[in-house]
Amino acid sequence: MMPVKFNLIVFILYLYADIALSSFCYWNTACSYRYFSTQTPYNAVRGDIRDSVINIPECEPISIWGIFRNGKTYPDPKSAIRMKEAIAIRDLVVSSYENGRCSLCAQDIDNLRDWVIDNNMFDKTSALHDEGRQEMFSIASRLKQVYSKLNELEGANYRFTPTHHHWVKESAKAFLEGLGSKNVVMDDLMDPIKSDSEEDPAWNKETNKYKISSDYLAAKDRIQRRLGIEFSLTSDNITAVYDLCRYSWSGLNNKASPWCALFTTEDLKVLEYIGDLEHYYKYGYGRQNAEMNGQIPLADLLESFQLAKAGKGRIITAYFTHSRIMDMVYTALGWFKDSKPITAADKKRDRYWRTSRNNPHAANIVMVLNKCAFKKSSDYHVMFYMNEEPIRSVCEGGICSWAEFEKLLSPFREITSNNKTTALK
Ligand SMILES: *[C@@H]1O[C@H](CO)[C@@H](O)[C@H](O)[C@H]1NC(C)=O
Repeated sequence: MMPVKFNLIVFILYLYADIALSSFCYWNTACSYRYFSTQTPYNAVRGDIRDSVINIPECEPISIWGIFRNGKTYPDPKSAIRMKEAIAIRDLVVSSYENGRCSLCAQDIDNLRDWVIDNNMFDKTSALHDEGRQEMFSIASRLKQVYSKLNELEGANYRFTPTHHHWVKESAKAFLEGLGSKNVVMDDLMDPIKSDSEEDPAWNKETNKYKISSDYLAAKDRIQRRLGIEFSLTSDNITAVYDLCRYSWSGLNNKASPWCALFTTEDLKVLEYIGDLEHYYKYGYGRQNAEMNGQIPLADLLESFQLAKAGKGRIITAYFTHSRIMDMVYTALGWFKDSKPITAADKKRDRYWRTSRNNPHAANIVMVLNKCAFKKSSDYHVMFYMNEEPIRSVCEGGICSWAEFEKLLSPFREITSNNKTTALK
């Protein structure tokens, strides 16, 4: 018996060694990792309101309130400069491969070599990308298929409010095009939200700690060894290559970027976590006054639905804004809160605070007020959706009774009257 058993073990070990040594191919990975923190394509995480909409027979949707992050943009100017420099890494990887030092597979190398630079990436920094336009357009057209009342927009029965940034205004425009209503106009711009004039070092403490953690250093080392290049990659270089990977990933036809082949799934998860930490400490639970800012549009939500209940409401009220405001809104509502703060030392796989899910391109929360004519009396319910899926953790099944809804939103009522101006400054 012994020799057989021994041989079997040797054979298994041999198999494992072979799997570990054979190069990992990105291009033919059936499910390539598509979660890129705040640069996650909407299509990678969205539901579909046409399938997920909650219909109750006796109920009729009477008012919609939504907040939408802008669709995909080109990188900001600072990142674009680093990304342009990092393109030089491509030649280093290709020649390393030719010298037998790089363990990427042949097709991944071909794809990287054939990758065509989209100069818009560097010339149109921060502008709304066509994919972003499409994301916004499609969300609106799906909503319209579900809520036929959206065909009746006119006069004062709607309100669309973007922030003043061009990529947000363009997103709102694409959304309106998706609704296909002629003569519908955007409202005054949403009050400019304080852009942080001075960065508080506390916001970056955890992110910086993570960049020297064994988790991150191991990923860095893996990348360096797989590429086999002599040039020693800095964290900035890795960030720039990661940006090349995620900005050139196409969510519309689900086409992976050849730059992503430079990373394993584990590497991508490490880089994703940096985004989670950053947003947590800059705009989420890790920051002192994040709640304050998030409360602003929420007070309006309660007011909008109260008006609708009184028969004077709008068919739709929609805000168009930035990823950080989404974070602040979640924080104000107490959503995606982990029992302990997320930290550099402890990357939990099952954390609730996941920017890839909560803050992808075109992230959105949509709430729908329903008027229900049950046997005894009329009643109201509010359905909660995020990225076109019901939010089941807030109220059972994603359906809140009016009392539950009011309870959730009433803390923000006072904020409007007392602190509206100070909170915005
Ligand atoms: C790598 O990063 C350093 C800064 O950390 C930068 O000076 C250098 O230009 C980058 N190189 C490439 C090829 O991107």
